[in-house]
Amino acid sequence: MKSIATAPAKVILLGEHFVVHGVRAILCTIDKRVTVSSRTLDDNIIKIKSKLGNLSTTLSKSVDEQNIPLKPFLHIAKKILEKFSTSVGIEIDIKSDIPIGVGLGSSSACCVAAAASVSGIFGKLTREEILKLAIEAERTIFQKTSGADCSVCTYGGLMEYSTEQGYRALNSKIDFNLVIANSKETHSTNQIVHKVQNFKDRHEEIFLSLCNEENVIVEKALTAIKENDLPTLGKLMSENQVLLDKIGVTTEKLKVLVKTASNTSYGAKITGAGGGGCVIGLTDRTNLEQTLGSLEDQDCECFVSKIDYNGL
Ligand code: MEV
Repeated sequence: MKSIATAPAKVILLGEHFVVHGVRAILCTIDKRVTVSSRTLDDNIIKIKSKLGNLSTTLSKSVDEQNIPLKPFLHIAKKILEKFSTSVGIEIDIKSDIPIGVGLGSSSACCVAAAASVSGIFGKLTREEILKLAIEAERTIFQKTSGADCSVCTYGGLMEYSTEQGYRALNSKIDFNLVIANSKETHSTNQIVHKVQNFKDRHEEIFLSLCNEENVIVEKALTAIKENDLPTLGKLMSENQVLLDKIGVTTEKLKVLVKTASNTSYGAKITGAGGGGCVIGLTDRTNLEQTLGSLEDQDCECFVSKIDYNGL
């Protein structure tokens, strides 16, 4: 028996990091995907194949003893076998066109697609159950995740997210192109989130006031999205970047890419954890080519994306 699931990559339009501390974020999925195929095996082993490496282990080994990047998938396999009261072996094969460790939600998309693919061998879980399992799996390597990335990778489209209220789809007709520039500097989301926690511990009041500023930016952005107002949305994204600079998640290279994209797009910022990774520029057909052209002159990999509404 074989079960296949795919999940999309994501970008954070506004609110990364602050979302971990209770502020709302706005995210959307884009047209890059991970595909996970799972099948049962005759012997009682769990096999995982991915770009991050391969793992072959017995069910008796605990998740904590395993190779870190592949821990979430072992967690998923064990939980599903437990849920369906079986101990057959499983092979999980992960194929992805989402660049790894650059803020596009590769890890979350893999967790979501793996939870759906492995569970699909034995029965049907609801999207809510898949999301819950994916977040739990991601927490084996990144404890403080807000759950925003797994949520958008599960449901797809454009959404607002907060740790308190969860996911809310934004039913907007807004249409834009995102020019995405991958700095090719990879990061560890876990480490950058810890760095921000340290900043908060050292500068509690400043951090609180930045959270308040971010809240106002997100509120205004929700109105701009409703009104299909790209210039205002872009301006708010650039204002968000100023706050991200203040909490220390931007690198020199990212600053150059943000500045370059800002010259011609409606607004630009990093997306995801920062400390490397990608920059996004908000455009439409009037400024897309110019923004893409100027970013291509920098040392980065560029592509253009639109919102992908398909989700898991
Ligand atoms: C990473 O894509 C987004 C962060 O806000 C972490 C999270 O929300 O879990 C940095």
